[in-house]
Amino acid sequence: MAGASQDELKRLVAQAALEMVVPWLTPGCIVGVGTGSTADCFIDALATVKAKFEAAVSSSDASTLRLQSHGIPVRDLNAIEEVAVYVDGADEVNPERALVKGGGGALTREKIVAASAERFVCIVDQSKLVDVLGAFPLPVEVIPMARRLVAKELARLGGNAVPRAGFVTDNGNHILDVHGLAIDEPAALETRLNNIAGVVENGIFANAAPQKVLVGTPTGVRLIG
Ligand code: 5RP
Repeated sequence: MAGASQDELKRLVAQAALEMVVPWLTPGCIVGVGTGSTADCFIDALATVKAKFEAAVSSSDASTLRLQSHGIPVRDLNAIEEVAVYVDGADEVNPERALVKGGGGALTREKIVAASAERFVCIVDQSKLVDVLGAFPLPVEVIPMARRLVAKELARLGGNAVPRAGFVTDNGNHILDVHGLAIDEPAALETRLNNIAGVVENGIFANAAPQKVLVGTPTGVRLIG
């Protein structure tokens, strides 16, 4: 894979995730699916084994459409007992497997499906690895009327919250992309941000980090966890 493009690394890591999850699949089981270009590669790979599981639960309308285009049934999370595994990409991953997510604006549903799953596998190309989270602006989903209030509270924490222009989440809310936050303690900040009135969810995934991270590199796929 020397000289592999970022897209090739995404396909490589998606295929590795498929190989990891296939032994966990049973005819009645449900697979949770994330959102974004790497998750799209996983959906395409998952379609090749669709006889091995019953259905998917999806973290966004976009992923639902892609799953359905492959003939994979998509279930309402409230209608199912168990999600065998959740597979999703990330915008940043630190050495402890804490993530920043939400570049695609689907962070709230992503966190809900991740929290519902028995196992959480994150798939990234090597460009997403960082020592400290926060260079990627942290997405925060807010109730529209609370945008200004939340931005003020984030400024108190040292963050510069920029409304994502022209973007409405699948839940009908807005996204603030927060620049300049020092995310030295991801789990504590994740909890603290969710205590601000008007915040629906933030893009730090540290309190329930993935058990496994697969990283696509030009020399192959590396496993963290
Ligand atoms: C969407 C996400 C994505 O997982 C994240 O933005 C990474 O996307 P990509 O795989 O396209 O780089 O959190 O809300």
